[in-house]
Amino acid sequence: MNKQVTTKTIKMRLKNKIAVVTGGSRGIGQAISELFAKEGATVIIVDLLPQGQEVADAISSNGGKAEFHIVSVTDKSAIEKLFAEIHQKYGSLDILINNAGITRDRTLEKMSEAEFDSVVEVNLKGVFLCTQAAAVYMKANKYGRIVSAASNVGLRGNFGQTNYAATKAGVIAMSKTWTMELGKHGITANAVAPGFTMTDMVAKIPEEHFAAIKDSIPLKTVAQPIDIAYGYLYLASDEARFVSGICLTIDGGTSR
Ligand SMILES: NC(=O)c1ccc[n+]([C@@H]2O[C@H](COP(=O)([O-])OP(=O)(O)OC[C@H]3O[C@@H](n4cnc5c(N)ncnc54)[C@H](O)[C@@H]3O)[C@@H](O)[C@H]2O)c1
Repeated sequence: MNKQVTTKTIKMRLKNKIAVVTGGSRGIGQAISELFAKEGATVIIVDLLPQGQEVADAISSNGGKAEFHIVSVTDKSAIEKLFAEIHQKYGSLDILINNAGITRDRTLEKMSEAEFDSVVEVNLKGVFLCTQAAAVYMKANKYGRIVSAASNVGLRGNFGQTNYAATKAGVIAMSKTWTMELGKHGITANAVAPGFTMTDMVAKIPEEHFAAIKDSIPLKTVAQPIDIAYGYLYLASDEARFVSGICLTIDGGTSR
């Protein structure tokens, strides 16, 4: 057994760790990137939105370490190339946060095949491709933390989200599978299932639905991105070294 982890031994919880955060240009991914940098990680933001550069620059000007790359999580060869470069530059790829995700909401009868496929492509296949590419380096270093974005919708279903709910349930199942396959290499794999969180992803929801949404949540409020980021921090840290295959629900008590 490793040396016991106590409050005295923990200072910065991710000191010297190399962390890839997909979808880090805004929303929950931005909060994860900023929090991880504050906790000592070198953060590599992977996103399609160029504003990720501003997130990385702000981290750097606050004394943290971050870089930004415009790459799609669905682009297998670009992801493999980027992760090889990260490993060559830093000598490890310790943490993978599979946070990038999209919605294309429509009821079952109206959902097109293209809408179904595009959500599967990013939310499910993107998580698979990034994890497959990162696992090579994690195995080589006998260390890894994989934390992937599920949703409480993946546990409960949601009106108008056939595609999205299926991908989020899939992320939970993939994480449990990787727990079994990768555990012997010192790698943990977990999922985080946020509830309703105030980001651009939910900005399209009409104002008048908000009161009902809040009322349906036992804590009578919605999450802010930082509320979710703290869950990612725990699962990415050494304090969670014996935690693998779980889905950490952070939804104000909605799923119970
Ligand atoms: N906001 C919520 O209420 C909520 C609830 C449960 C789960 N989630 C999940 O949390 C994650 C983050 O959600 P958010 O609310 O911050 O969303 P968001 O839309 O604000 O941010 C998602 C980010 O992912 C990026 N992205 C999308 N496709 C990409 C691709 N192919 N390659 C690289 N980057 C890509 C986007 O550019 C964006 O920066 C998602 O996986 C989402 O499904 C969100």
